[in-house]
Amino acid sequence: MRRIIIAIDGPAASGKSTTAREVARRLGYTYIDSGAMYRAVTLEALRENVSVHNRDKVIELARELDLKLRSHESKTIIYMNGEDVSEKIRTPEIDQNISPVAANPGVRAIMVKKQQAMGEAGGIVMDGRDIGTVVFPHADLKIFMIASVKERAIRRKKELEQKGVKIDLEEVEKDIEYRDKQDINRNHGPLLKSDDAVELDTTRLTVEEQIRKILELAQNKIETS
Ligand code: DC
Repeated sequence: MRRIIIAIDGPAASGKSTTAREVARRLGYTYIDSGAMYRAVTLEALRENVSVHNRDKVIELARELDLKLRSHESKTIIYMNGEDVSEKIRTPEIDQNISPVAANPGVRAIMVKKQQAMGEAGGIVMDGRDIGTVVFPHADLKIFMIASVKERAIRRKKELEQKGVKIDLEEVEKDIEYRDKQDINRNHGPLLKSDDAVELDTTRLTVEEQIRKILELAQNKIETS
């Protein structure tokens, strides 16, 4: 049976990663969290005291970074130059500094190349913003996940609280709205629904419902291709 490429795009905190990871697990595929890669570059810039607005310096950092993604149980482990930075890349500080890094065309070119190399053999589920449009424009199945800002903020706040980070809902909402705007309006790899993507509004869906919906679409593709 053919091992297909599934691209899942959508705005911040729309439920992509939880859903994508579980879809991959049930299919026996590899899950690739492309956002983790932009997060790692941001972490490196902050650590090296390089301004996230300094395009050339950030590109230099991105080029030299050795990034490896591994799935472990229900988690993605990301290694940056051999160090496990999985937790360190998911902080409000990274959220607040990532947009200029993700808008940097040089950084995007480097990351897109790495993502294409990771997924070219198929049998992958990759989530992000530009997976169905730029990274894998010929993906077998493209999903565009959306949810209301309010619902996404509630989910993100819960996720942060589970890690012991206290933050008020309004601040999370503002951050999500800001990142949406940055993701939609950037010139390179903007958040954009590909014409052939299936839109999935998860505002009123449970995670299990989202997973089943995508698995159903994936099974159809696998059987007909
Ligand atoms: O999916 P996430 O929230 O972990 O993504 C973090 C940031 O990275 C987000 O603000 C947009 C950016 N990103 C991107 O520009 N392109 C991708 N393919 C994935 C994420």
